[in-house]
Amino acid sequence: MKQAKHWAAALALVLASGWSALAQTISSPNKGLQLHFSLSQDGAPMYRLSFADGQEIIRPSHLGLEMTDAKKSFDKGLEVTDTKESTFDETWKPVWGEVKSIRNNYNELLVTLKKKSNGDPIAIRFRLFDDGLGFRYEFPGGKDRNFYVVKRELTEFAMTGDHKAHWIPGDYDTEEYDYQHSRLSEIRGLFDKAFTENCSQTAFSKTGVQTPLMLKSDKGVYINLHEAALIDFPAINLDLDDKTMTFRVELTPDAQGNRGHIEAPFNTPWRTAIVSRDARDILASKLTYNLNEPCTYETTDWIKPIKYVGVWWEMITGKSSWAYTDDLPYVKIGETDYSKVKPNGKHAANTKHVKEYIDFAAKHGFDAVLVEGWNIGWEDWFGNSKDRVFDFVTPYPDFNVAELRDYAKSKGVKLIMHHETSSSVTNYERHMNKAYKFMVDNGYSAVKSGYVGNIIPRGEHHYGQSMVNHYLHAVKEAAKHKISVNAHESVHMTGLSRTYPNLIAQESARGQEYQAFGGSKPNHLTVLPFTRLIGGPMDYTPGIFQMDINKYNPDNNSHVNTTICNQLACYVTMYSPLQMAADLPEVYAKHMDAFQFIKDVAVDWDDTKIIEAEPGEYITIARKAKDSDKWFVGNVAGYDGHKTTLTLDFLDAGKTYTATIYADAKGAHYKTNPEVYTIRKVQVKKGSKLSLTSAPGGGFAISILPNKK
Ligand code: NOJ
Ligand code: CA
Repeated sequence: MKQAKHWAAALALVLASGWSALAQTISSPNKGLQLHFSLSQDGAPMYRLSFADGQEIIRPSHLGLEMTDAKKSFDKGLEVTDTKESTFDETWKPVWGEVKSIRNNYNELLVTLKKKSNGDPIAIRFRLFDDGLGFRYEFPGGKDRNFYVVKRELTEFAMTGDHKAHWIPGDYDTEEYDYQHSRLSEIRGLFDKAFTENCSQTAFSKTGVQTPLMLKSDKGVYINLHEAALIDFPAINLDLDDKTMTFRVELTPDAQGNRGHIEAPFNTPWRTAIVSRDARDILASKLTYNLNEPCTYETTDWIKPIKYVGVWWEMITGKSSWAYTDDLPYVKIGETDYSKVKPNGKHAANTKHVKEYIDFAAKHGFDAVLVEGWNIGWEDWFGNSKDRVFDFVTPYPDFNVAELRDYAKSKGVKLIMHHETSSSVTNYERHMNKAYKFMVDNGYSAVKSGYVGNIIPRGEHHYGQSMVNHYLHAVKEAAKHKISVNAHESVHMTGLSRTYPNLIAQESARGQEYQAFGGSKPNHLTVLPFTRLIGGPMDYTPGIFQMDINKYNPDNNSHVNTTICNQLACYVTMYSPLQMAADLPEVYAKHMDAFQFIKDVAVDWDDTKIIEAEPGEYITIARKAKDSDKWFVGNVAGYDGHKTTLTLDFLDAGKTYTATIYADAKGAHYKTNPEVYTIRKVQVKKGSKLSLTSAPGGGFAISILPNKK
């Protein structure tokens, strides 16, 4: 009876949405998921996603694109000319990653359609994996069919109810927001409060949210919506119709208000839904990477995971400055004479100080030192929409490029370049080749780039098609010089690092810096792996040990909402081949025992086990270091803290290990008592059990090293 009721309800829904009975269905390789494609009665393409037992995940949802020239739209009046089903199964090895090899296994449905009125062709390619769905639009091109200007995308994700969402406000320019946790129906009411100030931001709707978007239904289904392989197209946000609980894709407009210029043959990025009844599967999913093309580079041995320190946190906290002087209200590159100005005494990127960082890095086994504020222009770098702001090659008078190059080399440490563009992209592209060549000449093989402020060309957005093209252009040009790129304030990641693995990380979310700009929520790190990290690694910059920022700068009363062990856990829970130890050497000197974990932890992995996870509440992950028997475990906890019983069933049988456990001390708390921890060593083997308690906003970290025989 219950079953019959269920089907009657589903049928009513289907009919109400105009869903035709002639659906074509494919199953995922393990038969757990089903994708149904159909045309509505008026010839609009639609899809639906369900579990094999009939439980609906995405209700009947529209597909299509509306063009500025209505005759060219693919909205309705379509007919199916062909369908093809196929299966794919391969295993590939990432250049760096969480696991040694990745299985890419899906069943595909390619639907070719034509517009009845003019014969225009379009195809929709669906790939159904065991852990979710990807689909994209394909334009084969042909006579008079090569150019399209997109007015809006019609893709929908119709939800089955008023799900819980972990969301940030939809925006065309920035992802640097704290996450909100609410029902879909509550987004509208919370939006204004969630839309906190940023120096470049553009909201488009009070129900707009960004992807990757993490949802959970009342029936316990986890759904993650995003896109993969974002190339030559505007990035997406989602706009919610909160009456029907249906998301529609919102493409970022260009300066003229258009949402994508298509030159066929062309494939759009994939629209993705990762789904499971187990939250851990969302974190383990490789669907986003699998929807990207294999690596295009002939050699990749020049792309190296990096653990680094940097001349950075001291500027972020306001203890030091990027600028060399306080006496220049205006800088004109090529004309301003720095030899005549008075240094402000706070300029951190000076030769002597950078050498101290190099010494620290060498002593503690770090690969590299990032130096920001080394080049002229910082006195007047942002806020005025200035075009020619940096030249990326001229150092301040107190920064000796050659001397530092030689010193770093003698210590076996690399320097990481910094290119803040202040979003004057025109200016950056003018200088890019010279800037990369300068890096090669001076021994730099990685660059942190940045896009603070509104984009120039003016009117463009950080997520628009031109900017999407710019970020990838920068990565491809860098590859020609064997340079790796870590871009800040750029568009969300979509798995492109599979194809271009020198894109070693990005920021593209609210990073640690916000802890010094007033603070982030204490459960932030329990959300990021479910959202931002779905697209690729983040340069979060963990490792802050001193939580009261006024100890660095009496004028800054921010508090870092974390505990020391929560920070340590990040090196495991926030996967990235680029990991910073962000605090100052003198702070680490006070906690050398806890710092040991950062020294020991790997940045590249052969295996990963997601032990337990619930977005917003806790994440526990164990990882096996690349080419080694060492394991590292991390747990981050949200507002309520967390208790974990960890069974070490992933260890090799027959071996014994020493586990060093870094845990929040009794009474630890992200707000009131963040810097207390205990360290203990225990002998463990496969199957050993450990009981661990994390404080509110806290965590634990464990290194498990095999005993020498
Ligand atoms: C914002 C970046 O996120 C931060 O890391 C950097 O230090 C500043 N911009 C200056 O470039
Ligand atoms: Ca930033």
